[in-house]
Amino acid sequence: MSLKFKQLSPAEFFYNNKSMAGFDNQSRAVYTVFRELIENSLDACDTHSIRPIVFVSLKLNTREELEITVADNGSGVPARYIADAFGRIFFGSKYSVMQNRGTFGLGGKMAILYGQLSTGTPVEVITTTGKDVYKVKLSIDVKLNQPIIHEKKIEKNSHLLHGTTIKLSFKGDYITARSRILKYLHMTRIALPYATIIFDDPEGLFFVAPTLSHILPKPPRETPPHPYGVDIIKLKEMIESSKKDLPLYKFFLKFSRIGKVTAFNFSKLIGLDPFKPLRKLTDEEIKRIAEGLKSYKFLPPDASALSPLGLETIKTGINAEFAPEYIALCQRPPSAYEGFSFIVETAIGYGGNIPPPANGSDDIRLLRFANKIPLIYDASNDVSMRVILEDIDWKNYGLDLKSDPLLFFVHIAATKVPFKTAGKEYVADREEIRREIRLGLRECARELKSYLSKKAQQIHHAQRKEKMSVYLTLLAKYTSALAETELIPKTKLNALINKKGIEDE
Ligand SMILES: Nc1ncnc2c1ncn2[C@@H]1O[C@H](COP(=O)(O)OP(=O)(O)O)[C@@H](O)[C@H]1O
Ligand SMILES: [Mg+2]
Repeated sequence: MSLKFKQLSPAEFFYNNKSMAGFDNQSRAVYTVFRELIENSLDACDTHSIRPIVFVSLKLNTREELEITVADNGSGVPARYIADAFGRIFFGSKYSVMQNRGTFGLGGKMAILYGQLSTGTPVEVITTTGKDVYKVKLSIDVKLNQPIIHEKKIEKNSHLLHGTTIKLSFKGDYITARSRILKYLHMTRIALPYATIIFDDPEGLFFVAPTLSHILPKPPRETPPHPYGVDIIKLKEMIESSKKDLPLYKFFLKFSRIGKVTAFNFSKLIGLDPFKPLRKLTDEEIKRIAEGLKSYKFLPPDASALSPLGLETIKTGINAEFAPEYIALCQRPPSAYEGFSFIVETAIGYGGNIPPPANGSDDIRLLRFANKIPLIYDASNDVSMRVILEDIDWKNYGLDLKSDPLLFFVHIAATKVPFKTAGKEYVADREEIRREIRLGLRECARELKSYLSKKAQQIHHAQRKEKMSVYLTLLAKYTSALAETELIPKTKLNALINKKGIEDE
């Protein structure tokens, strides 16, 4: 039998494996399209320190077909990148070492591709960086993985605004996706109280998350790759794109945390001449460099590539949705895994509008976020859930997961989040991350314990005072009757009760 060989384009591959990117059924597809487009809008604002205003509208074209429009006030896409940004899989602006929601140059395009193949219609993009306004209708050539432009108009930008509007049709089941979409919006409001999100739903519901805070998280800064995060393929790519005569030690300066002294010391350690030009490196030497980069003791990666939410922002968001009686918060110091820096932020809310679990069930109210993305599916597999269920003995903090009104919040901000799937649903169980979540939640639990024990003490004292007041009033009545004197005035009695000596007896 003769075998037939062919090459699969990335667009074909992802369309054939839709479930990897979160398009396994029509309900999930609605949620994924919605989420990917909003996340692109939020990235286009956050990375440029723009307070996001995002308008989303979903309309039913037919019973099975929806039309989504997402408009934002983000940076806009520069003219020369528009076609590829929306028409070529694995093309994007987020491949640098910096915290972003998007990572693969895939999410928005999967939504476009899914829309195109399920309804046969192209996507409409209107975008401006503040100069001209570009209105483009395009689709993706699946075989060649390249954009096909159907229509292109350029107009003057009379308002000098910047931003992007995307409109596309796709097959989906809104009714079954609705509850998750609303959950996603509520969670986004918690993490981003500084954003304004307006959602016009096909059922006539108009969801508005107004701005609750004017504090914007510090934007992430692009940093060079850390040696621990570079494998041999990436190393070869970096060598290829450098000048051929560049001496080795100067090449090492392209990494984060390598200065001149470290570059020389490192060269010596791996037995290579620091002045050797890159073009003279043998394959064996490149392999030696790759291994050395992983084992040498470099400083941990720089955290300036991260943009954590900040405790004030988290507090504002949780207060807006749950108005808890108490919130304990913690931001852990920067840490790293495999050369990727990350910061964990945790919170535990107690009481207020947080309901206790239904009838002693194992329902854990856990809000998970990674790079400001709410994570909704597959909670039971997520590393944060493992920490809550396996790593912490809540009884030590006087807490009971089955009966207390508790809300857990975990945000992982990382230059690369170890998601288990391309659909970004849950975070893998990496020991470094698990440890930080554990330490963060423990610190919150300690703070909550101290609040609850102070509160219990206060209640105890108030009850004692109350009892004392009843007894003393009666006692005063009888003694004054016996002694045939006047009744002690109530104010005098109260002063006596409030005296610390009596209270602490
Ligand atoms: N709303 C938007 N505003 C500005 N740029 C956008 C917007 N949507 C998409 N882009 C650009 O298009 C690129 C590709 O988007 P996408 O396919 O979702 O991949 P990713 O977000 O993973 O990079 C992004 O990297 C970004 O540069
Ligand atoms: Mg994206």
